[in-house]
Amino acid sequence: MTVKQIKEEVMKLKKETEATILAHYYQPIEVQEVADYIGDSLGLSRLAKEANSEFIIFAGVDFMAETASILNQDKHVLMPNPESCCPMAAFLIPEKIKDYKKEYPDLPTVVYVNSTAAVKAESDVCCTSSNAVKIVKKISSEFNTDAVLFGPDANLADYAEQLSKIKTIKMPDKGHCYVHSQIKPEHIIQSKKDYPNAKVLVHPECIREVRELSDVVGSTAYMYNTVKNSSSTEKEFSIGTESGLMERMAQDFPDKKFYLVMNKLVCYNMKKNTIELMKYVLEHLDDKMFEVKVPSDIAKKALIPIERMLEFS
Ligand code: 13P
Ligand code: SF4
Repeated sequence: MTVKQIKEEVMKLKKETEATILAHYYQPIEVQEVADYIGDSLGLSRLAKEANSEFIIFAGVDFMAETASILNQDKHVLMPNPESCCPMAAFLIPEKIKDYKKEYPDLPTVVYVNSTAAVKAESDVCCTSSNAVKIVKKISSEFNTDAVLFGPDANLADYAEQLSKIKTIKMPDKGHCYVHSQIKPEHIIQSKKDYPNAKVLVHPECIREVRELSDVVGSTAYMYNTVKNSSSTEKEFSIGTESGLMERMAQDFPDKKFYLVMNKLVCYNMKKNTIELMKYVLEHLDDKMFEVKVPSDIAKKALIPIERMLEFS
């Protein structure tokens, strides 16, 4: 079967089963093409909550599907490939977060959604890259503190600290994303030399020096909307995030030009979901193949900081 035929089959199965397909911007382009909604972590959490289907196929990584499942305990959330995990989540385990809380008992705990459900269950509030600054400000004012505990991404913590002026104690010091932390200042400098008319857009998971050399810092949806709302005279964009977003934008905005700030900006974990696996999961819906289930005691505790985040943002 060709990719085109598999995509047609997926669309047919989706219609027959009334399943909803949610896909992150980093998904392979053919997976994005069969999705009902494409978005960033925050947008997809909201959409998962609003979805009316009994079955949600979540094409992203584990923490995203887990969040969708926690928000929809009456629905079946399935992943095309259960091995699609975000390695950043491994930087923080529940025992570690408990140690930090003992050391700083008065500080609120902010946990990036790129974390396990068990870690979320230990937090006061969750955040995504699009609302981290707002959440840090809100929770520190609620707790009346000038600092928060923040993990596992030390770069997003640093970004939130810079913009909110609230100190973030990093849990741990060097938690990071292997994709975004490859981008170094020299890549941005070279990219500006190669494409002097291009606006440089990067993700907040990039290191501070990279962020400071760039024109726009924001979540995947923020970058997408920056291009969408750009004037007709703004034609070129250099992108500092996973390549899937650039492929999406190249399709949606054919009159603009896009460049990656460096080669091989690929999240191999996101790319483990394939169009073939999408078809397979839809064909076996009744078996609930690759259903994501968070143990109910953890899900109950993790729901509180996730809902608080949605309320705050
Ligand atoms: P967004 O919330 O910006 O889509 O980011 C998710 C992510 O995993 C970035 O690496
Ligand atoms: Fe995790 Fe980085 Fe992949 Fe995002 S790009 S899912 S943070 S490894």
